[in-house]
Amino acid sequence: MTPTSRLLTALFPPLALLLLAGPLVAQDDDKVAARDKALAEADRKAFEANMKAFDADVKPLLAKYCVSCHGPNKLEGDLSLALLDPDMKDSASGARWATVRERLETREMPPEGEPRPTKDETAKILAWIKAEMKRARRNFTRRLQHVSGNKVPHALLFDPEHEADLDVPPRLRRKSVEIYEVFRREQAKGFENLVGNPFTPDPRFLFKDMGSPELDVPTTSQLLRNAMTIVERQTAFRVEDGEVKPLPGGRKEFIALLDEKKPFGPEEMAKAVTMQFQRTLGRSPSDEELQRFVRLTEKNVKDAGRVAGLRYSLAAVFLLPEAIFRYEIGGTPDDDGRTRLTPTEIAEALAYALTDKSPPSYLLSMAEKGELDTASGVRKAVERMLADEKTDTARILRFFHEYFEYPKADEVFKNPEDFKPHKAKVLVSDTDNLVRWILEKDQEVLRELLTTNKAFVNTRYDAGKKKIVQYESKAQAHLSYSLPPDWKWTDEQPIEMPPGTRAGILTQPSWLVAWSMNQDNHAILRGKFVRERLLGNVVPDIPITVDAQLPDAPEKTLRERMEVTREEYCWQCHKLMNDVGLPFENFDHFGRWRAVEVGKPADGRGGIELTGDERIDGTKTEDALQFVQALAKSERVEQVFVRHVFRYFTGRNENLGDGPSLRAAHAAYRESGGSFKTLVAAILASDSFLYRTPENRETAAN
Ligand code: HEC
Ligand code: HEC
Repeated sequence: MTPTSRLLTALFPPLALLLLAGPLVAQDDDKVAARDKALAEADRKAFEANMKAFDADVKPLLAKYCVSCHGPNKLEGDLSLALLDPDMKDSASGARWATVRERLETREMPPEGEPRPTKDETAKILAWIKAEMKRARRNFTRRLQHVSGNKVPHALLFDPEHEADLDVPPRLRRKSVEIYEVFRREQAKGFENLVGNPFTPDPRFLFKDMGSPELDVPTTSQLLRNAMTIVERQTAFRVEDGEVKPLPGGRKEFIALLDEKKPFGPEEMAKAVTMQFQRTLGRSPSDEELQRFVRLTEKNVKDAGRVAGLRYSLAAVFLLPEAIFRYEIGGTPDDDGRTRLTPTEIAEALAYALTDKSPPSYLLSMAEKGELDTASGVRKAVERMLADEKTDTARILRFFHEYFEYPKADEVFKNPEDFKPHKAKVLVSDTDNLVRWILEKDQEVLRELLTTNKAFVNTRYDAGKKKIVQYESKAQAHLSYSLPPDWKWTDEQPIEMPPGTRAGILTQPSWLVAWSMNQDNHAILRGKFVRERLLGNVVPDIPITVDAQLPDAPEKTLRERMEVTREEYCWQCHKLMNDVGLPFENFDHFGRWRAVEVGKPADGRGGIELTGDERIDGTKTEDALQFVQALAKSERVEQVFVRHVFRYFTGRNENLGDGPSLRAAHAAYRESGGSFKTLVAAILASDSFLYRTPENRETAAN
């Protein structure tokens, strides 16, 4: 089996249909074998040197720091570092060494409080592991995709001295919910209610189009059902006076083939299949695909009759892997074991990174002409797409939706007396417009997002007219912004907010409402947000044994009620959330600026601590505005933003091997004066986006 079909069968059960796709990537056994032979002699020498170095440099360190827990007497993690074979090529030890490497790189071992190897000693062990991994020519890195990307140490990712090899396995990504949605609306026009979207986002990840969820049986059956439903429409006919006639939705070309009086041989079959390829995949079948599909149709017609037979074959086109997956496989590996995505893969990956649609024709023709063969060519393509009026930017705005999560304001139940349901929608729409406006200017985007004292009030974006209009005249959104009751709407938007009341998105009513509960602010969740998404730290999950309730005490402020989390056991986690969540107590849970809470002066004091970055640790702030301004000034916060943009646009969490790409992307953002477009282009033109490091054959057995 080729690596691609192996990936496919793992992801996608209906094998019978899949095999139709045939071999997609040719294996290059001969080349690999020849290379191995040429390397044999050099290998023997390297092996001897590595084993000597192990005995001299590494073994004593393991004995000193690790063997007490991973040795003959104790086997923590089922791992014996006294016995692990240093030869990674001809033994099964390599995968274990990969975990050792990872634990050392992330500084997770030895556990906190135990004697640890010095920096130089750690570097020595790591250098040896890498050298032996290289000699073994087997890529053992476990490719653990941390569900929390923040677990990868920030300091190492952005340490210019830290060297790391790119480590991104080839992958097939299922198309996103939104890509399928576009397809569904196109193919099932007029009967959308009969064709459901089978995909759901992977709930483990912050960004919805991340992870690579398997296609389980319900998803697969829905795909199949959808294919049949669409094809039944395409071929719906009735017989009138012995004549076969299309019903609404029926395609004349297909229906003509269903007339039993007319011939239906390989030629007609090929015509039908070609048409279906063009309609669903936007391309013609290759000769070989055509042959396979004609054979399939002949068999189906023989087994099931003309109508059903043709329908099955036409439906099979919808189930080709290409219709369901995005390919990030690459071609033949180079001498470093890396492979670049093919030009067509790059065109598709770029289109789906920026939009929910397949590549526009100019991108495909750039791919064909070799213009995507260099990083600068790719950057140009991205710039062109971002500058193109016709590019649908919904997916870009979605990054800000998923990162800041302000649209969920609309789901937080509010007392309908105070807060009419439609109002939250207006607030979300206002923040969308603020984001659009900042993206349009494209300067210091993050800083502007976090600190602008301007806001759109009671606005909607009219896509047809391409301008901001009043949401609806009766909406009272201005009250949420603490504007006077008699404030009159103006089309000169955005408008300046009353002095000292707002600074950017975290003080926008939409965000404040989204991160509230029915009756009050949710300072703990706000703190978790700031801690994870802006400071880039990890907050341990809440233990199920904790009865997570604050005392019900209407005379107390939220800050006072949160005192219970200061108990030692609770505080180990809550110290990470409280001080970075409480600054927003200057606002109520409708997002209005307030001076008083339950008869006491509103208290928005806060601080930044325990980030691992001494440049911000120890910051103390008096109110929400000072707090967000401190965040906006921090280089770490900017880098954490870059990490999130990276995750969204590559569709995966970063690992240490992405350090160089992240650093370059951050540098590009800085040099461009904070241009989001430049940042995205830098990420999409990086090695992390364009290259894969396939496992070779030996590793597949691990
Ligand atoms: C004080 C005891 C202790 C010491 C010393 C210690 N470890 Fe561990 N190690 C553990 C425990 C407990 C686990 C299992 C829990 C876990 O995975 O975190 C573990 C797990 C591991 C794992 C994960 C095994 C797997 O496959 O999941 C690796 C790798 C590891 N240790 C490497 C090391 C190395 C390398 C050192 C020395 C530099 C070391 N440890 C020193 C206690 C220790
Ligand atoms: C291991 C970490 C951890 C510990 C220990 C912990 N918490 Fe939490 N707690 C969290 C996290 C994380 C959240 C955020 C809620 C979430 O993720 O759903 C949270 C949320 C809460 C909430 C808000 C729940 C809600 O959604 O309304 C309360 C109240 C709370 N914790 C109280 C406590 C108290 C009291 C203790 C000590 C008895 C405690 N916690 C111990 C991690 C912890």
